[in-house]
Order: sequence, then structure tokens, then C-alpha cells
Amino acid sequence: SRVRHYKFNVVMKNTSRLCSTKPIVTVNGNFPGPTLYAREDDTVLVKVVNHVKYNVSIHWHGIRQLRTGWADGPAYITQCPIQPGQSYVYNFTITGQRGTLLWHAHILWLRATVHGAIVILPKLGVPYPFPKPDHERVIVLAEWWKSDTEDVINEAMKSGLAPNVSDAHTINGYPGGSPNCSSTDGYQLDVTPGKSYLLRLINAALNEELFFKIAGHKFTVVEVDATYVKPFTTDTVVIAPGQTTNVVLTASKRAGKFAIAASTFMDTPVVAIDNLTATATLHYSGTLSATPTAVAAVPARNATPVADTFSNSLRSLNSKAFPAKVPKTVDRSLLFAVGLGINPCPTCRAANGSRVVASVNNITFVMPTTALLQAHLFNIKGVYTTDFPGNPPTPFNYTGAPPQNMATVSATKVYRLPFNATVQVVLQDTGIIAPENHPVHLHGFNFFVVGKGSGNFNPKTDPKRFNLVDPVERNTVGVPSGGWVAIRFTADNPGVWFMHCHLEVHTTWGLKMAFQVDDGKGKNQSVLPPPKDLPNC
Ligand code: C2O
Repeated sequence: SRVRHYKFNVVMKNTSRLCSTKPIVTVNGNFPGPTLYAREDDTVLVKVVNHVKYNVSIHWHGIRQLRTGWADGPAYITQCPIQPGQSYVYNFTITGQRGTLLWHAHILWLRATVHGAIVILPKLGVPYPFPKPDHERVIVLAEWWKSDTEDVINEAMKSGLAPNVSDAHTINGYPGGSPNCSSTDGYQLDVTPGKSYLLRLINAALNEELFFKIAGHKFTVVEVDATYVKPFTTDTVVIAPGQTTNVVLTASKRAGKFAIAASTFMDTPVVAIDNLTATATLHYSGTLSATPTAVAAVPARNATPVADTFSNSLRSLNSKAFPAKVPKTVDRSLLFAVGLGINPCPTCRAANGSRVVASVNNITFVMPTTALLQAHLFNIKGVYTTDFPGNPPTPFNYTGAPPQNMATVSATKVYRLPFNATVQVVLQDTGIIAPENHPVHLHGFNFFVVGKGSGNFNPKTDPKRFNLVDPVERNTVGVPSGGWVAIRFTADNPGVWFMHCHLEVHTTWGLKMAFQVDDGKGKNQSVLPPPKDLPNC
């Protein structure tokens, strides 16, 4: 194992897309930002220097951060933000993980442009559990707004309504050909006939789940969220914000140009204005420039069956070398009702200033002004309480129509877990405004997705059908619209860990909470002492 040093300068950079130029917040001037490379067992030191007017923090999404929660990054959860002119060195070791993850800003809406890939290679000499592809490429999917994203969310909070959608999706930073602009600003994936390519796909978008497709080609899915899966073939990848998917693409044609597309998947009947589908080109070497590009037919925006087929195909590899360590019994069984609500009074506002409120078990989480982990480690009283409810206040009954008692309480509460407890959380979509898929992300852990269904979770019958053998292991999972998903994990990582919807607007509205995992009594079971440069609030 080695120590790897990175320097992330957070700087403004004038950037042009869709025929207009605006200053954006970037790391080292790049959109997307630099790829962080490491091997399993390496220690990574990233010095983040804040040269912009905003407070900043960076999250290493999916890195377990065993006992190093103060390097996790969510502002006001595990650290106070890095203030303008200040710096902080994130220092963590990658233990028991290899694959693709992402890093991103974890404060305000800065994630829109402050994000990049994390590539964790296996230990030296350890092969992939699938035939080694000839080449590897990182593909970051995101969004582009013509306006300033901080203005977008600030205006939405003022009006009380939903924020504007982005103007376009992007593939490695570019929307691709757009009707009124130059069509040359698209990413080009160059391939040689007959070769295979490991594509490391990342959805770094703020608010959009995506379909990803390449005309005339199929993918073999081999990994999600840095865990290996049983390989399967698909012509469409479905990927939610915060999720990563590794696929093998074989350049099976002799020559030609094939469109690559990333388009919105939104499992809701609400009529939305569609963002521009991002396009890129798969380009075979030796193709004549006059060759037309084969068009990629993306699924319809609400093609839920396509998304279901994809997610139902995901299974842990569960091999000898990579066993699925699914908790077979649970010490804590929790039911979290997650969803959005709208205050019927037009001038009324929740504590966060919004008319739309989002909640978990009727709690609209309020960000504290001191980081929870710092309060926990340094015994600062009055920052949060540990009475987050393990069940909805009244038994939840999903009927598809607004149920009774959806009033929410604004508070900073965490759910406390003993070290090493086995935990099951059933995430039940409340579907108050409209059923909507929520990609829920848990920091500090991977979890197993043991079951999922539509309508109400039935605690008597549904657990009988749980997959405790080879469920997919990941860090971000879609709670189905008007349905539920059950996850299990072992609380083997002491600290304070955020859990939230990775659609940024839902997090802003309050669809978030945190777990506090106590230190264990044994050796190596407590949070390591935080570094001296950990910022103060
Ligand atoms: Cu990728 Cu808390 O987020």
C-alpha cells in the first residue's frame, strides 16, 4: 500500500456550454474535476484549499471512512465547512473496497460543478473477477444550468416552489450537439474494433436519474457502487445521482459513429419540462468523417419497467473471494417513511424557508450550526438530540392519496446505534405530492438491498421473500415510487453518518437524517482522533 497526495484548489472558472459563459466553482479549474486514483489499502491525503467566496466541503461518496468520519465531508454533519481562504487535509485509508466511486462538494448546491471520479484499483497483482478489459474510461454524467445554481435554489426557496430543472445533461462535461449551438462540444469515446472497454459510469447530477445508452451496442454490468455484481447484459444502464456502475463495452463493429446518450428517468406522473438529452459519440478508429452517427433511442422519461428490469438484475457476485456478508438476523428493525409534502397555506414556510417540506418519519431535518460529529466527539451539548423515531408517528398507510397526519416537525435528531448492531431499515415512500423515486444514500456503510415492493411494506409477509443470499450491496438505492425498499447493514463504523435523498433538492427540503454509531468497548472500535486542521464553525 502507498500514500497518495492530491491537491484540490477550489477556484472559480469561466466556463462555456450551450453558447454561453458563466463563472463556476471548480476543483483545479476543471468540470468535471480531476479523477482520484488509488488502490485498495492505500492512504489518500487530499489538501483542499478554498479560494472562492463560498464555504466548501468535499465528500468521498461511498468510501467507508472506517473510524475516520471527520474525513467524510458533509458540512455540519461530520465537519464544519472550510471557510474562504482556509484549507483542510482529508486523510483516509481505503479498506476492503475497490471499484468506482465519486467525490463531490457537500454543501449548498456546489456539487453541480464540484465533482469527479474516484477509481480504486484492486491491490497489486489481484485481478478483476471478470476478463480484464483492454482499456478503461471514466464517464461522468452530470447537468448544466445556464444560470447560477445557487441562484436557482435560493429563488426556489423564496418562491416556495420547485426549482428549475437544468438546461441539459452532460457527458464528461459536455451536453453534446444542441439545436442552436455548435454541435462540436461533445465528448468522443474513441475505440479500436475488437477491443473491450471498462466504462466507469458515474451519475454526479444534482437532481436527475438517468438512462445511459449507446446506439447499436450492449453492456455487461460488472460492478455497482464499488462492489462486484454477477455480470449481466443490458442495452440500457439506469443510474441515480450518487450511484456508479462499471460496464464492459466491446467494440464489436468494424467502423462507424454511434451516439451515446444520457436522458432523464423520472418515475412520476408529474409533468416536467425535460432537460436536453446529453449526447456523445462512440467513434471507431478509421471511420470516415462523413459517416453519419447512428442515433441512440433512449427510453421514455417515465419508462419505469426499463428501470425495474435493470435494478432487479443486480445481484452481489457472492464468490469465495467476495462473499456477500448479509446480516441474517437484525438487532434493530426500523421503518422510515420518506417523502415530500406541501404546506397548504401559500404563505407558510417551514423552518428552512420552504413551502415544500420533505421528511423522514415526519421529521424535517434542520442542519445544525456545529457539526454533529464534532459535537459528539468533543461533548458539545445542545446541538442535537438522539430521539429520532425508529417508526412513523402513526402507522403509515400508503393509499396513493395524501394520508392523515403528515404534519412534520423541524428538528435536528439522530438515531443512535450501538457498535456492531445489525440494522434493517425499510424505506417506505409516502408519495404525498406524487409518488417519486428517492435515491437514498447512506454515508459510512455499504448496505444490502434485501427486498423491495410496491404499496405498503407488510412486516408479516414481505420479510419471508427477502434475499439474504446474494442481494446487491451498495451505498445509494432507489426507494420505488409508492413502494418500499429494505436494506441491511452492520453498524461497525463508529461516528455520525448522514443518510439522505441524493436528489439535491429533496435534501434541501429536509429529506435527511443521521445515525450516531457509538464507539465499541474493544480495541480499534472507536473514532480515531481528528486531525488538528479540522475546521471550526
Ligand atoms: Cu453523495 Cu451525502 O452524498
